[in-house]
Amino acid sequence: TSRRSLGDRTMAIKAVPFFTQLSDRELDVIRSVSVEKTFPKSAVVLTEGEMGDSLYMIQSGKVKVFIGDEDGREIILKILSAGDFFGEMSMMDKQPRSASVTTLEASTFQILAHSAFEKCVEQAPRIANMVMRVLATRVREADRK
Ligand code: CMP
Repeated sequence: TSRRSLGDRTMAIKAVPFFTQLSDRELDVIRSVSVEKTFPKSAVVLTEGEMGDSLYMIQSGKVKVFIGDEDGREIILKILSAGDFFGEMSMMDKQPRSASVTTLEASTFQILAHSAFEKCVEQAPRIANMVMRVLATRVREADRK
C-alpha cells in the first residue's frame, strides 16, 4: 500500500482517461475509500476459482486476464490497461473469481472492496452505472465465445 498522500492519488487517478469521465467529487469519493497497491511485473493478482470481494481499477500498467483449460493451458480472454477495471464480478456476487489476472508489467491499482464500492455508489450513483455497463459488455462477449 502506498504512502502517497490523498492529493497525489487524486492527481494520479485523474491522469487516466476512464477516470476523466468522473467529476472531481466522484474521484474524491473513490479515492477516499480505495486502497492503492502496486504489483511488480509477472505478479499474480487474482486466481481463478479463489474467493475475493474486491474490484481493481488499473491506474497504470497492464494485465492479462485468462482461464485454464482442462489441460491447464492458458486461454487469454483480455489484456487490460490503465482506465480498465477487473474483479467486478466477484465483488458484486461474492462467488469465486471467474478468471486469473497477472501483471504484464509493474502495475498500480486502486482497490475497492464491496463495502467501499457500496459507499461509492451511495455518494456517487453514476459509478454503479459505469460498472454495470462494462459488466453487460463482458457478458455479451462471453456469450459469443
Ligand atoms: P472476477 O470474476 O471477480 O475475477 C476475474 C475477473 O476477470 C472478472 O471478475 C472480470 O473482471 C475479468 N474477466 C472475466 N472474464 C472476462 C472477459 N471475458 N473479458 C474481460 N474480463 C473478464
